[in-house]
Amino acid sequence: MDPLMAGKICMVTGANSGIGKETALGLAKMGATVVMVCRNRAKGEAAQSAIKQQSGNESVDLLLANFASLQSVRQLAISFTQQYSRLDVLVNNAGSFFGRRMVSVDGYEMTFAVNHLASFLLTNLLLDILKASAPARIVNVSSDAQMAGILNFDDLQMSKRYRMFGAYAQSKLANTLFTYALARRLEGTGVTVNCLHPGVVATNIWSQALPGFLRPLAGVSRFFGITAAEGARTSLYLATSPAVEGVTGQYFASSQAKSSAKISYDPAIQERLWQVSAQLTQFS
Ligand SMILES: NC(=O)c1ccc[n+]([C@@H]2O[C@H](COP(=O)([O-])OP(=O)(O)OC[C@H]3O[C@@H](n4cnc5c(N)ncnc54)[C@H](OP(=O)(O)O)[C@@H]3O)[C@@H](O)[C@H]2O)c1
Repeated sequence: MDPLMAGKICMVTGANSGIGKETALGLAKMGATVVMVCRNRAKGEAAQSAIKQQSGNESVDLLLANFASLQSVRQLAISFTQQYSRLDVLVNNAGSFFGRRMVSVDGYEMTFAVNHLASFLLTNLLLDILKASAPARIVNVSSDAQMAGILNFDDLQMSKRYRMFGAYAQSKLANTLFTYALARRLEGTGVTVNCLHPGVVATNIWSQALPGFLRPLAGVSRFFGITAAEGARTSLYLATSPAVEGVTGQYFASSQAKSSAKISYDPAIQERLWQVSAQLTQFS
């Protein structure tokens, strides 16, 4: 139990597995009310009951949303604001890889849609309740993959040439650019926003990237990176630590501020991505 977190309401997206599940568990252990966002009811309920049992905290709720659908994201924001009167922490964690090019319900390249557009829209739809709950924090789970990211504004949907890692790196660069553009907009509101690299973490996400025979190893940390609990540490640090009270617009790894890709600091690119994202999500 952490007296600073007791009574706070924290939303974690992609909370049924990997880093998101451990982030939700860590927040529940501190005594926060945790709102888990998952796309699959059975997986979500299984994780919810495990988190309640391991934390001893019954205030662990579940909302369902598929981030491959902007309508589902909109419905999530409506359901949340109907059920809760405040939001102290939003952890935008849900993310994925896609071995071949796929499109979302809205017709957008799936990596860009799930990893960037969904959290862009969700965050913007929740900004009023975050501001009304200030001091509040937004934590965006990016990745060092953003260092290799290229935003090709002529083909953001990668319809001409799709590369799995290129699409992933682009989406994670977008998370970082979004963080910096949002921090500028939130100045003076008491709402902070930071992004992070969690480390190379043994989770299900890698199963898409590995050849079939290696897929069972994706979640096994002794073969493949740090554990999900270790991977959640920087998310939890940014979500809860008094040491980062008021800190905003930064990129973190291992709970330390560090530099992100050079291009991510370009305000013109940040703003261009914001405008395109607002247009694609029909958010104004
Ligand atoms: N693992 C790493 O080494 C690493 C490194 C850098 C950054 N990251 C980032 O960390 C975050 C968490 O990933 P993870 O490694 O913990 O992987 P994970 O275990 O696969 O967790 C990803 C979560 O996102 C959810 N998700 C995926 N697609 C979704 C959709 N369309 N709608 C709603 N939820 C969806 C997943 O739900 P399902 O279980 O239903 O698929 C799952 O809960 C991601 O943003 C990832 O890019 C991971």
